[in-house]
Amino acid sequence: MRLLITGGAGFIGCNFVRHILEEHSDYEVVVLDKLTYAGRMENLEEIMDNITFVRGDICDKSDVDKALMNCDAVVNFAAETHVDRSITEAGSFIRTNVLGTHTLLEAARTSGLEKFVQIGTDEVYGSASSGSFSESDPLNPSSPYSASKAGADLLARAYFTTYNLPVSITRSSNNFGPYQYPEKLIPFFILRAMIGEKLPVYGSGENVRDWLYVRDNCAAIDMVLHKGKSGEIYNIGGSHELTNMAITRMILSHLKKPESTIEHVADRLGHDFRYSVDSRKIRGLGWRPKRSFEDALRDTLQWYMENEEWWSGLL
Ligand SMILES: NC(=O)c1ccc[n+]([C@@H]2O[C@H](COP(=O)([O-])OP(=O)(O)OC[C@H]3O[C@@H](n4cnc5c(N)ncnc54)[C@H](O)[C@@H]3O)[C@@H](O)[C@H]2O)c1
Repeated sequence: MRLLITGGAGFIGCNFVRHILEEHSDYEVVVLDKLTYAGRMENLEEIMDNITFVRGDICDKSDVDKALMNCDAVVNFAAETHVDRSITEAGSFIRTNVLGTHTLLEAARTSGLEKFVQIGTDEVYGSASSGSFSESDPLNPSSPYSASKAGADLLARAYFTTYNLPVSITRSSNNFGPYQYPEKLIPFFILRAMIGEKLPVYGSGENVRDWLYVRDNCAAIDMVLHKGKSGEIYNIGGSHELTNMAITRMILSHLKKPESTIEHVADRLGHDFRYSVDSRKIRGLGWRPKRSFEDALRDTLQWYMENEEWWSGLL
C-alpha cells in the first residue's frame, strides 16, 4: 500500500508515521506537510530515508495532486490545532481545517482511493455535563477550532454520501506523548516545571479531559484504516478522565517540584468543562489502549528530559 499521511511532521502525524513503518514495513509512506510552527523536520529526522516527504499545503491543489499520485489511501492529520490560537486568529483554522480538507477530498474523489481517514476530535461534541458522547450525538462545538473540525467532519461525511468516497472519521480525546509541541497542556507544564517557571492553570482547574497516549491513538487509527467501515465515525477515548489540577499535580510530583508553582489565571473564553466519548464502537473492532496512563506519562516526562535540543527555544 502507498499511504499518504498529511500533517505527518506534527505531533500525532509523526508518531503515526513511526507506527506504520514499524507495523507495515512493506508500505510506502508519503508525507505532505506545510511545516507550520507545529510541523517540524526534526520530528521525522531519523526516519527520512524511509518516507517520501512533500513540503506543501493541503489547500493547494497542485501540492495535493503531487502528493496523492499513485496513493491507495490517505490519513488526514493536517490541521491548525491549538484552541487558544483559534480564539485570537480563526482564519487559518477555517482555511486549513475546512478548505484544506475540501481540497483533499476533491482530489481524492477522482483518484480511486481504497480509504480516506479523516482525523477529527472529541471537541466537536462540545462539553459533556454527564455521561459520554456516542458517534450519533449532535455536534455542538464551542471554539473556532472545534467548529472548523466539525465542518471538516461534515464535508468528509458528505463526500461518502454523495460520491461514495470511502471515508471513515476518527474522533479522539486529548493525546499526549513524545514530539508534542509545548503549547499543549502536558508538554507545556512539563517544560515550565523543569525550568522552574510558574504553571498557569486556567480558572479553577476543575475542567476534565480524557487522556489518551498518542501511540494507542495511532493503533486505533491504523485499525480504522484497515477495518473501519466507510461512512462511519469512530470515537477513540483513553478512558482516563482527570481534572487539569490533578494532572498538574502529577507532573509536579514526578518532577519533585512544589505545588506553589501553580498559578491560577483567567479562564479561556468559551472553555468547555468536560470532554468524554463512548469508545465502544472502536473497542468492538478489537482496539484497547495498551499503555497505562501512569507508565505513558512517566515515559513522556522522560522523553522531554532526554530531548532538550528538541524543545529548547520553543517555550
Ligand atoms: N493533539 C490532540 O490531542 C488531538 C486530539 C484529537 C484530535 N486531534 C487532531 O489530530 C490531528 C493532528 O493533531 P496534532 O496534535 O498532531 O497537531 P499538530 O499541530 O502537532 O500538527 C499539525 C500538522 O499539520 C501541519 N499543517 C498545518 N496546516 C497545514 C496545511 N495547510 N497543509 C499541510 N500541512 C499542514 C503542520 O505543519 C503540522 O505538521 C489534527 O487534525 C487534530 O485536530 C488532535
